[in-house]
Amino acid sequence: MKKNSILFSFLMMVFAMTLQAQPMPDEIKMKKFISELMAKMTLEEKVGQLNLPGSGDIVTGQTSSSDIGLKIKEGKVGGLLNLKSVEKIRDVQKVAVEETRLKIPLIFGMDVVHGYQTTFPIPLGLAASWDMGLIEKSARIAAQEATADGICWTYSPMVDIARDPRWGRIAEGSGEDAYLGSQVAEAFVHGYQGNDLTKKNTMMSCVKHFALYGAAEGGRDYNSTDMSFQRMYNEYLPPYKAAVDAGAGSVMCSFNDINGIPATANKWLLTDLLRGEWGFNGFVVTDFTGINELMEHGLGDLQTVSALALKAGVDMDMVGEGFLTTVKKSFDEGKISQATIDQACRRVLEAKYKLGLFNDPFRYCDVNRAKTEIATPENFKAAREIATQTFVLLKNDKETLPIQKKGKIALIGPLADSRKNMAGTWSVAVDHDQSVTVIEGFREVVGNEAEIVYAKGCNITDDPKLDEWSGSWGESGIDPDRTPAQLREEAVEVASKCDVVVAVMGESAEMSGECSSRSDISLPGSQKELLEALLKTGKPVVLVLFTGRPLILNWENENIPAILNVWFGGSTAGQAIADVVFGAVNPSGKLPVTFPQNVGQIPLYYNHKNTGRPLGDDEWFTKFLSNYLDVTNDPLYPFGYGLSYTSFTYSGLKLDQNNLTGNQTLKASIDVTNSGKYDGEEVVQLYIRDLVGSMTRPVKELKGFQKVFIKAGETKTVTFDITPEDLKFYNYDLKFDWESGDFVIMVGGNSRDVETAQVSWMK
Ligand code: BGC
Repeated sequence: MKKNSILFSFLMMVFAMTLQAQPMPDEIKMKKFISELMAKMTLEEKVGQLNLPGSGDIVTGQTSSSDIGLKIKEGKVGGLLNLKSVEKIRDVQKVAVEETRLKIPLIFGMDVVHGYQTTFPIPLGLAASWDMGLIEKSARIAAQEATADGICWTYSPMVDIARDPRWGRIAEGSGEDAYLGSQVAEAFVHGYQGNDLTKKNTMMSCVKHFALYGAAEGGRDYNSTDMSFQRMYNEYLPPYKAAVDAGAGSVMCSFNDINGIPATANKWLLTDLLRGEWGFNGFVVTDFTGINELMEHGLGDLQTVSALALKAGVDMDMVGEGFLTTVKKSFDEGKISQATIDQACRRVLEAKYKLGLFNDPFRYCDVNRAKTEIATPENFKAAREIATQTFVLLKNDKETLPIQKKGKIALIGPLADSRKNMAGTWSVAVDHDQSVTVIEGFREVVGNEAEIVYAKGCNITDDPKLDEWSGSWGESGIDPDRTPAQLREEAVEVASKCDVVVAVMGESAEMSGECSSRSDISLPGSQKELLEALLKTGKPVVLVLFTGRPLILNWENENIPAILNVWFGGSTAGQAIADVVFGAVNPSGKLPVTFPQNVGQIPLYYNHKNTGRPLGDDEWFTKFLSNYLDVTNDPLYPFGYGLSYTSFTYSGLKLDQNNLTGNQTLKASIDVTNSGKYDGEEVVQLYIRDLVGSMTRPVKELKGFQKVFIKAGETKTVTFDITPEDLKFYNYDLKFDWESGDFVIMVGGNSRDVETAQVSWMK
């Protein structure tokens, strides 16, 4: 009997292994189709598939004779980048499938990063919702709109872990934590790709920037990274892996150097890790001119670096045409094999196949869909709801917020009436004219219950260079008629006649994002002077803060009674802000990234190591301990932090057992009471510390969270199931496993304020 069951299990195992090893029937069909097609292709045509030029100036109706049209006809283009308009895409596709020898369709990619024409909050804001369902929904709507307009491939999600708020691209990712980042990565990929890529309303995701781009030294964009493998595997790589595991069809390599080999030429990264260890079977595209930049990195001339990139595992060359112009020569000289070229070409063609483009090249070019499915009232409604979930209430003394709809409300600040700053960075397809400003949102929500009086009060920055370089879309944000002092006086006059002041300030949209690193991350220009002047009026002041990164807000935190961080809220930011400010929605966002007290503390992140000389909590200087002379080690606002109009009290953390062995499940539960007067949602967070390990371990790591709705006065018991999976880490030999020992279980409303309990868990 026993023997039989062993034999049965063995047979089942062999059967399961065979199933895994065998490609699925569809895959067999795809491979056959691509092989037959490739058998007809010349080497030049194969190289053409690896070329992804920018879209240039395409004019509907004249594509065939344009420069890009001619290139397509010669079979030198595999896809196009950032072309908006279904008519144009249809035209270009027509050239590809009607005027080329093999009629291979093009793939059309775009940075659909946080929405298409309906724009959602910037990704850092979306992460602050800690609501994976909503993030997935935003990506789903983005895919619905983008595919209605001809786009079938998006350069998103950006999953680079970033612990340096000077780096402007921190706005595009989900912050500092690998666990949260992995959940967000998965939600985005599922949202874009759905469960069937051939559907007309799903698109292929491209996870970027592989890898470690967010660790750019000094927060300066494109800068080098140099990192231990242990840190990489534990703290930076998980979100990329999560996106790959979720089925992302493509990967974009990053610009940066990694331990001496730039990502674009890094065979270990693009082949051994990505394909070998992770089993990725999609295609790899460079970032914009990533191959050409290898010359500046000092790896050789264009022919050399193109060969390096191709051999490292790059399949498609974005914009730089290094492949197009040199690969044939390298092949003729015996420097690149036919197999290497074939492999890249096959991967690009497979992506087109997976998207159904060979069945119907025009499947994403339905003019009717473009007319009816983009920027619809339903999508705007969803964007408004989602945006309200991303705002983080940083301070709210004396219940300054929510504001009542009555009397006179002063709306002050350069971002209160600035349509182009609502969507935030990387809003390639947005129509700014459709964005709702804060003043419009306020007027709509308040109706005639209160009077809204507006004054600009200050420029976002008074520095002409910063104004120009941080991109005001060609227009200056600096008031041409009034000096900063005049703007301020005018605002003070308005404020003194009102009952309450809402100051809408912060960064412009393009002060974060690509190539927008800042070394001083405080409120720019004379914004602080304006806030000081507004406070002097004696009126209650609420700061509504626009930002794409953590800012230094010590003074604001000390002096302003209420601060609501709204990131960049997307097309409907104005209404969403009004919904929260006037209390229709109770804020529940939590910071996905630490806000430091000053720039000198950077990098400052919650899951740091302990050092051999740690400073106790809430302590300042002690000689010969790890600290600063001039600032405490604490952040201003910790990771996971965010207030609500109500208050939540945590009590009675209970573990169902304290001594566990092997694969058991530990239940940790805690009572969360809504002890205030508003119903509200709270993100309950679980952290674990591994007390003794074969290598040093972080002081805590996020291992779970639940967003729960609790009515005023009610208590809910929140329970987390913890298994040894949650204790695993990559050890010094990069083996992913857990180790017997003692663990501290922590649960709370942010990474600082937690209840703790301890268990022993043996193998
Ligand atoms: C950015 C990428 C983006 C690409 C295409 C690059 O400059 O780094 O994130 O996907 O441009 O627009």
